Amino acid sequence: MQLHEKIPNNVNLHDNRRLLRALERWQPNYLKWWKEAGPADFQLDKIYLRTAISVDAKGWANFDYVKMPDYKWGIFLALPEKDRVVPCGDSYGDPAWQEIPGEFRNALRRIIVTQGDTEPASVEQQRLLCSCAPSLYDCRNLFQVNVEEGRHLWAMVYLLHAHFGRDGREEAEELLERRSGDYDKPRILTTFNEPIDDWLSFFMFTMFTDRDGKYQLLALAESGFDPLSRTTRFMLTEEAHHMFVGETGVGRVVKRACELMKQDPNEDARAQGGLDLPTVQKYINFWYSSSLDLFGGEISSNAADYFAAGLKGRAHEMKKFEDHVALEGSYEIELLENGGVGSKTVPLRNAMNEVLRDAYVDDNQRGVDRWNKILHDEEIDFELQLPNRRFNRKMGIHSGHFFDPHGKPIGEEEFNARRDEWLPNQADKDYVKSLMVQVLEPGKIANWLAPPARGINGKPFDFEYIRKV
Ligand SMILES: [Fe+2]
Ligand SMILES: [Fe+2]
Repeated sequence: MQLHEKIPNNVNLHDNRRLLRALERWQPNYLKWWKEAGPADFQLDKIYLRTAISVDAKGWANFDYVKMPDYKWGIFLALPEKDRVVPCGDSYGDPAWQEIPGEFRNALRRIIVTQGDTEPASVEQQRLLCSCAPSLYDCRNLFQVNVEEGRHLWAMVYLLHAHFGRDGREEAEELLERRSGDYDKPRILTTFNEPIDDWLSFFMFTMFTDRDGKYQLLALAESGFDPLSRTTRFMLTEEAHHMFVGETGVGRVVKRACELMKQDPNEDARAQGGLDLPTVQKYINFWYSSSLDLFGGEISSNAADYFAAGLKGRAHEMKKFEDHVALEGSYEIELLENGGVGSKTVPLRNAMNEVLRDAYVDDNQRGVDRWNKILHDEEIDFELQLPNRRFNRKMGIHSGHFFDPHGKPIGEEEFNARRDEWLPNQADKDYVKSLMVQVLEPGKIANWLAPPARGINGKPFDFEYIRKV
């Protein structure tokens, strides 16, 4: 480990002068991007942050006060697995590749650039949130997510610089030039061009959209290209905290809604200045459906090609599946047929996006179950639900068709007539925004949110997570 170095790393950068110099040239541009497109405030303040300092399962993270621009963004790859093989597809069982096979170069570059693009995009989307942070604890968590997304950009840029020569260096520059929501140079995926300017959306984003990220990383962790597998495996360690922020964030909104309902003669959380459960449900409907789109088409020849090539596997490919070639199986895909829901049998390899989406849906359901446990414990008779996966889709076989949140096919007119019941409407968004006030006193919190059960790294909730200078 070389922590004292300008770019902390466990990839022996100092032995590869060319690569080191290339990354050192990229570093000031990265910092320029961070200052321009990262958090809009607090850049000079000291934030109690976690920094990755190694890949040791027990001691990988160091907690301390740091000014965000001084954060040590490092390059850490999970330790190599001995005798690792290509985990799936036509080359299953061959030794994993340490260098990129020529025939997969373009596909891998596209995979790495698309993944890399989402990391800075989310930082840009969230840059204004600190101006209405509901507590110091939450503001610190936002910055933690942001600096780690920055490190994930480093992780992808390392691969581009180390394995793609001049093309890779150009891609690395372009990753700093695109901007979320920019008309001329937008980020690659649509969802990452929507601004996130209220904290309910931030919690939904970290619950649902970061979890898409988790599943993409799980698929890449099963890549035959070993450096990609190793870097994504370590990214998953950090990613877990992002989903913790989302799941517990929504959970605390739910808890507070219950408390306020009980205080109000009409059980009206809004009358008590809080967020109400039907609004939370509408935000779930929106963010879940838009995150489902990120998995790509249900029937996909691209997904089949990536799997066949051994570039991307299924989540936990080696642990959870027996047949890693997947040439024989098939998959039943539900789709609209003669006005009703029917199904179509497709070769398993063509359904790999849907297989990954299945695992994602189950993972989300476990989170929703925990939110419903809070409602149950608070003795509030309300159940939150994931809408059916066909609801409100903009990509794939269900897009262009209309379904209610239970997945029942309906006409476009009915959908439009009931849209405001199911998805956040302008009045909901305005109301949510009206609640966003900045609270910076340690131990204090905005009225619409319950404090967390515990603080960060064993610290209490009223710890001074941010020191203003
Ligand atoms: Fe990330
Ligand atoms: Fe993340």
